[in-house]
Amino acid sequence: MRAAFNGVVHLPGVPVLPGTEKSTRRAHRRPAVALALIARLSVALIGASAAVTAVRAEGQADNGQKLAETHCSRCHVIGSFNPHGGIGSTPSFRLLVTALADWRERFETFYARRPHPAFVAIEGIGRPREDLPPNAHPVTLPKSALDDLVALAERMNAAAATMPPSGPARK
Ligand code: HEC
Repeated sequence: MRAAFNGVVHLPGVPVLPGTEKSTRRAHRRPAVALALIARLSVALIGASAAVTAVRAEGQADNGQKLAETHCSRCHVIGSFNPHGGIGSTPSFRLLVTALADWRERFETFYARRPHPAFVAIEGIGRPREDLPPNAHPVTLPKSALDDLVALAERMNAAAATMPPSGPARK
């Protein structure tokens, strides 16, 4: 009978007390195998997510277009959706995304910029004033709407960049 290195005597047939058994190689190897698997999986996932991101960006811009048609076209011209609509004194979306260097930031924060706080709120960020005149038509949009509208602005900006310098004929 030999004493184990830690002074614990292991008798045959007697269960080893937890903490006194020698560590086996397997126990160390398992996390390494799992890590290798995760690494391989994430390489595959990153490839897939690049494609998903592109589709998502388009989906967001499409959704932003719908939101803009519903909630913004009353005042803004939204590209070809309402070329003769909107309110004359209100800048068109195309003008906003081409004439202003910080257009992205303006779209990200439009709800806080006048005149919008009077009638638009973003869920969890604020709410329209309560003393609105009855014709003011307040709307609360989900946070995702903000991303969608910015995606639309990005798409309009990219489209404008591919137009001839003079831009399309104004109708
Ligand atoms: C009731 C009319 C009205 C509606 C509806 C409206 N806007 Fe505006 N918006 C304006 C006016 C007016 C301005 C110009 C403000 C100025 O020049 O200071 C403006 C400016 C902006 C700007 C530029 C802001 C800045 O400070 O330069 C952005 C971005 C914008 N609107 C986005 C939107 C979006 C997105 C929607 C729809 C969710 C929307 N607007 C709905 C009237 C409106």
